[in-house]
Amino acid sequence: MISKITSAEMAVQQEYMKKVAELNAQRAQPPVAHVHSFGCQQNVSDGEKIKGMLAMMGYGFSSSPEGADLVLFNTCAVRENAEDRVFGNLGALKKAKHQYPDMLIGICGCMVQQEHITQRIRRSFPHTDIIFGTHVLHTMPQIIYEAMTTRKRQISIPDCDGVIAEGIPLRRESTLKASIPIMYGCNNFCTYCIVPYVRGRERSRDAEDIIRECRELVQGGCKELLLLGQNVNSYGKNIGTSFSELLKRINDIDGEFRISYMTSHPKDATRELVDTIAECEKVTRHFHLPVQSGSSRILKQMNRGYTREQYLELIGYVRERLPDVALTSDIIVGFPGETYEDFCETLSLIKQVGYDSLFTFIYSPRKGTKAAEMPDPISAEEKGRWFRELLEVQQEIGCSSYRSYVGQTLRVLCEGEGRTDPSLLTGKSRQNIIVDFDGSKELIGSFVDVKITEALAWALKGKIV
Ligand code: SAH
Ligand code: SF4
Ligand code: F3S
Repeated sequence: MISKITSAEMAVQQEYMKKVAELNAQRAQPPVAHVHSFGCQQNVSDGEKIKGMLAMMGYGFSSSPEGADLVLFNTCAVRENAEDRVFGNLGALKKAKHQYPDMLIGICGCMVQQEHITQRIRRSFPHTDIIFGTHVLHTMPQIIYEAMTTRKRQISIPDCDGVIAEGIPLRRESTLKASIPIMYGCNNFCTYCIVPYVRGRERSRDAEDIIRECRELVQGGCKELLLLGQNVNSYGKNIGTSFSELLKRINDIDGEFRISYMTSHPKDATRELVDTIAECEKVTRHFHLPVQSGSSRILKQMNRGYTREQYLELIGYVRERLPDVALTSDIIVGFPGETYEDFCETLSLIKQVGYDSLFTFIYSPRKGTKAAEMPDPISAEEKGRWFRELLEVQQEIGCSSYRSYVGQTLRVLCEGEGRTDPSLLTGKSRQNIIVDFDGSKELIGSFVDVKITEALAWALKGKIV
């Protein structure tokens, strides 16, 4: 069952925040926390809540675990290498905990929603003080209070379908760009994916709560609102509204700002949605439509709910209605049972679509998912070869798509100093493409028109018009 956390329950957590703040005020030095969020934007957004609550509890923040009074890893379970990194980081803290036994070490997020992972942490990482799952993030103040006062290990991983908790304090990473979760969880059960198991069932926030948050952000000077969900296209299904309606209402907020969204599932991306995006002048011209594979046979095995042909038809409509759109996608190479012929269909699809860029992954078996039980005869070396072939093909496609912007004038949100050359400014176009250009620092935070003069591998260069 999905539950909405009541304001009374949130008030209890407020009290715990105060209690921890009082304990922290007695320290000789103000305490410092190191919080690291792995994984997707959803996790980064949870990290902003974690930091918001910690700030209320009197913590300052450090970018490294060294010397921190509290270290918290907000973890991702989507692929094995994500989990390995966390275990590596956790192991590296053993010595520090031995030297400073007062240090609190915590682990939360998607990884710990898996029974076999928590067992491993309990067994092999006894210096971990706090373990809590994705559904009890809002109770972190209580968990930390108990850990501080009892000095006993705190474990809180209830098995439930998920919650919606409004009113958690936030410490945003940026004043210019803000992430706004509009829904949580996933019901799609793609056969390779762990997310539905660790994030619970799909649930949408009330439109009014989202609009209020967006309005406040825009009034506070925010220039880009990133709407988050594992499948934003199914926003509002149970509350009688739709993603299209939500986009229109946010688009109606006064001011110059952008609306972006992540992620769209192709099976739920309707023509109506594409039409809405075309009508909404504030919505970005960047469509991330993860295809995963170009082979209908593999798509069926993946339980994606569309065929190659249906996907290409959707892309055709997107290109027709949004001629200046940038398309990106996720691809999995080496799904169980995939043959080289299937893989070649992926290559032909990416050539046909002409993506601006791709996020590419080698399949990683996830315990408990259907795909992990499927026969997987292709060797890791072979999959590695296919993967490199894919990267090469995409590099050429990406370069030619970037070159097509040369000569065009793009509206760019200026975000800061250039990454490679600090004498330049950098920002993002409406297509979500990085643009570097000459200009004075006062422009940071505003929109400027830039004429593109050069295409680099991962960015464009230009001059202010
Ligand atoms: N909800 C989003 C994102 C899910 S995770 C979506 O549906 O697109 C982001 C990406 O990780 C997925 O799109 C997929 O390409 C990749 N991924 C998920 N599980 C994986 C696995 N077991 N092995 C390799 N890549 C995986
Ligand atoms: Fe995973 Fe599929 Fe849900 Fe995306 S839509 S989170 S890939 S199960
Ligand atoms: Fe990873 Fe959890 Fe996101 S598994 S990709 S952090 S939802």
